[in-house]
Amino acid sequence: MTIIVTGGAGFIGSNFVFHMLSRYPDYRVVCLDKLTYAGNLSTLKGVMDNPNFRFVKADICDREAVFQLFEEEKPDIVVNFAAESHVDRSIEDPGIFLRTNILGTQTLMDACCRYGVTRYHQVSTDEVYGDLPLDRPDLFFTETTPIHTSSPYSASKASADLLVLAYHRTYGLPVSISRCSNNYGPYHFPEKLIPLMIANCLNDKPLPVYGDGLNVRDWLYVEDHCKAIDLIIHKGRVGEVYNIGGHNEMRNIDIVRLICKALNKPESLITYVADRKGHDMRYAIDPTKIHNELGWLPETMFKDGIVKTIQWYLDHREWWEEIISGEYRNYYEKMYTNR
Ligand code: NAD
Ligand code: DAU
Repeated sequence: MTIIVTGGAGFIGSNFVFHMLSRYPDYRVVCLDKLTYAGNLSTLKGVMDNPNFRFVKADICDREAVFQLFEEEKPDIVVNFAAESHVDRSIEDPGIFLRTNILGTQTLMDACCRYGVTRYHQVSTDEVYGDLPLDRPDLFFTETTPIHTSSPYSASKASADLLVLAYHRTYGLPVSISRCSNNYGPYHFPEKLIPLMIANCLNDKPLPVYGDGLNVRDWLYVEDHCKAIDLIIHKGRVGEVYNIGGHNEMRNIDIVRLICKALNKPESLITYVADRKGHDMRYAIDPTKIHNELGWLPETMFKDGIVKTIQWYLDHREWWEEIISGEYRNYYEKMYTNR
């Protein structure tokens, strides 16, 4: 079995590569990644020498490179994690989101049609459903909730989802789609809420909370997401969408306070800054379908996962310090100075 994992040098993709190599010692795992600002080869150093692993630096929009790789590898399964993933960056510069997230998906699926795969899996997001109001805790996203996007990022992901379903219906491509809630865990890029707050706390820097900090996200430990995708690609039904989430809704401000407490830092570091444009209020996934059909349930409770995650950032300072000392400094200045 050969599986191509795109975006495998990023946060969730790398965790998925580790999961697959350890769970299936007879699988060949090929990682295709452009190594954008969010991709980091050092993340994969522990598997580079594994004979079942191959890394290829390429852009999923580069038709020639993608087709060449498919010609060489003849993959059975393709799992597409490659994407521009940060909402704030999509608000600053939507173009690259449309290119990678939509056209890159098209290129990969064209190669899948040409070379024949048993499964093309699209890693999507709960953000395609838009948001829910804070005063309706009874509402959740199901797979039939209408698509209703807020940011250029979520619009690009929703477009890709529609294209994936179109390739299934029109060309008979055996596809599946998963829509997951917010992940956290090792190798999470420090531009995102949890790692940003951990890094800033450790550096005694202000903790920039957008708006009033009352926005709610539904947090899932990354390993649980990887296990869900593993189940879907092996046992999930072709042409189906599966929501993934752990019923773990938290307000942003409560996450930031929890991180301060865990690192023994004063809450006076918390600084309220201008809100994100179009900021989604609440995400909440109903994972009944994946539970009933595939038996998936989250295994890591947030109270344990967040402790493990904070400890990982304490133990791997070199990984994130190298990132935040490079080009990231310009990004941080642009996004947060005088905000
Ligand atoms: P990430 O930004 O950490 O990693 C993205 C990876 O894709 C990087 O390694 C980057 O180099 C690579 N990449 C970007 N453009 C590429 C291109 N044109 N060609 C090849 N590789 C390219 O992202 P993540 O948080 O790991 O998210 C992975 C996927 O999961 C994305 O599709 C995202 O939409 C989805 N998702 C993320 C979350 C979350 O909480 N992080 C939740 C649900 C869904
Ligand atoms: O729900 C799934 C999505 O989760 C994925 O599709 C995205 O790829 C992923 O980036 C994530 O999107 P969010 O926008 O929810 O994550 P982010 O970490 O950027 O922000 C989480 C919340 O924290 C959000 O309400 C904005 C807020 N925030 C974020 C940052 C970076 C702050 O208050 N301050 C910050 O500095």
